[in-house]
Amino acid sequence: MLAVQEKYNWLPSEALDYVSRRLNVRKPRIYHIATFYKVFSLAPRGKHILQLCMGTACHVRGAKLIADAMARQHGLQFGKTTDDGLFTLERVNCLGACAIGPILVVDGEYKGNMTTNRANAIIKRLKREETGGEGGNA
Ligand code: FES
Repeated sequence: MLAVQEKYNWLPSEALDYVSRRLNVRKPRIYHIATFYKVFSLAPRGKHILQLCMGTACHVRGAKLIADAMARQHGLQFGKTTDDGLFTLERVNCLGACAIGPILVVDGEYKGNMTTNRANAIIKRLKREETGGEGGNA
């Protein structure tokens, strides 16, 4: 199931059916596992997963301003995937690295001391890369 999640960024029901048949495990058990672990998603997710820490330390250091800017500049909303399927923004709580907050995790890579400008540059770079343009230094 993890391999399917990694390949598609979510678990389509057809994939869960396949896993159920292949492992000879009843579907309710498969769904129980898929919904228990946060690493799995039953809804389509974007190609790039952005996770913004909204824990207390990151919040007081400006995470809310970053979230607002991401919404205003790129239409990113917590728990939503952009219409073009490029980005999913997730809210996370304390990642255990408060000293370098605010933290934006981009496709699993921690980016500390985040600012609205840096977040904007990262998203713009990812968009450029997807359209074949040149990357930036975010
Ligand atoms: S509050 Fe964000 S890492 Fe601790």
